[in-house]
Amino acid sequence: MREKLKLIKKNAEEKIAAIGSLDEVNDLRVKTLGRKGEITQLLRGLKDLNAEERSEIGKIANEFKVHLEQMINQKTEEIKHCELDSRLAREKIDVTLPGLPPQRGGKHPLTQITEEIRDIFTGLGFSVAEGPEIERDYYNFEALNIPRDHPARDMQDSFYISEDLLLRTHTSPVQVRTMEKTAPQIPVKIIVPGKVYRRDDDATHSPMFQQVEGLVIDERITFAHLKGTLMLFAQKIFGEDVRVRYRPSFFPFTEPSAEMDISCVMCKGKGCRVCSHTGWLEILGAGMVNPRVLEFGGYDPEKVTGFAFGMGVERIAMLKYGINDLRLFFDNDKRFLNQF
Ligand code: FA5
Ligand code: MG
Repeated sequence: MREKLKLIKKNAEEKIAAIGSLDEVNDLRVKTLGRKGEITQLLRGLKDLNAEERSEIGKIANEFKVHLEQMINQKTEEIKHCELDSRLAREKIDVTLPGLPPQRGGKHPLTQITEEIRDIFTGLGFSVAEGPEIERDYYNFEALNIPRDHPARDMQDSFYISEDLLLRTHTSPVQVRTMEKTAPQIPVKIIVPGKVYRRDDDATHSPMFQQVEGLVIDERITFAHLKGTLMLFAQKIFGEDVRVRYRPSFFPFTEPSAEMDISCVMCKGKGCRVCSHTGWLEILGAGMVNPRVLEFGGYDPEKVTGFAFGMGVERIAMLKYGINDLRLFFDNDKRFLNQF
């Protein structure tokens, strides 16, 4: 047994010297010193020896165990040290290299356009109003002269939260909300930027988009004021030689009503997918405020008149920057956004 023990010790020592990884060290620890290891196995035979031999062999075995244990611990430390060294070498940082510049954000193109629109109108003496995106049916439809079951509701199908609450389909509800606060004071000159929602989805229609509403109420306001204001706006945004057309249209809350188109920049008016082959892209609806809406808001239609408009911010950005699909604004692709 003494010989066998020596052999185990010798083998173990050789192996320890040759080992290179922590896994191997652990393996060896289990195989030699573990509960089912070589030494323990061997010591099972102690019971067949006489008392004297038993205590002698037991002593030797214990010495070996302590000795091997020490060697193994030492090896473990060595290997850990080596691994740390090589990791430090691998992870070396050259602090003299130039740093990576932090990526700078910028204003979203739609934010830029909204700000530009706002600047043009505040320059004309308008102030900025806001309203809730979750709107009451009353302000979104009823007070705008669109009763329940009126077919005009079909053009603006929305996302309903309850019978009475919906995501607003346009910024027009802020017309009556504002009038309720200001009536009977004049003049009223506001714009209302904000997000609106509809059941729409294609290259020129998004389920969420942005509008800027305009409302002017005063004595003797006429359609000429409306046209003059919007023409000036178009020239400031698109340049002096912009081509604009008005089409007669219908909105229950204006009378008469019109829509304004801008010549399509994508095809220079020849006709393409973006302008549905008409050569024009609609950017806004407008008209003279319907007397019934003035009444809903608390104004006397015998004393004052007004005009209103609602423009699509994405459409204006598309025309201004020559973008053929409005969904690009919402994809968050940095290659697209970096260009603005
Ligand atoms: C309206 O929303 C009316 N409230 C505008 C108005 C205000 C008329 C005041 C009279 C007085 P319309 O549904 O046409 O109208 O939308 C106005 C503009 O929003 C459109 O000309 C278009 O530029 C834009 N627009 C409409 N639907 C979408 C959509 N799904 N995605 C992107 N832009 C849209
Ligand atoms: Mg329209």
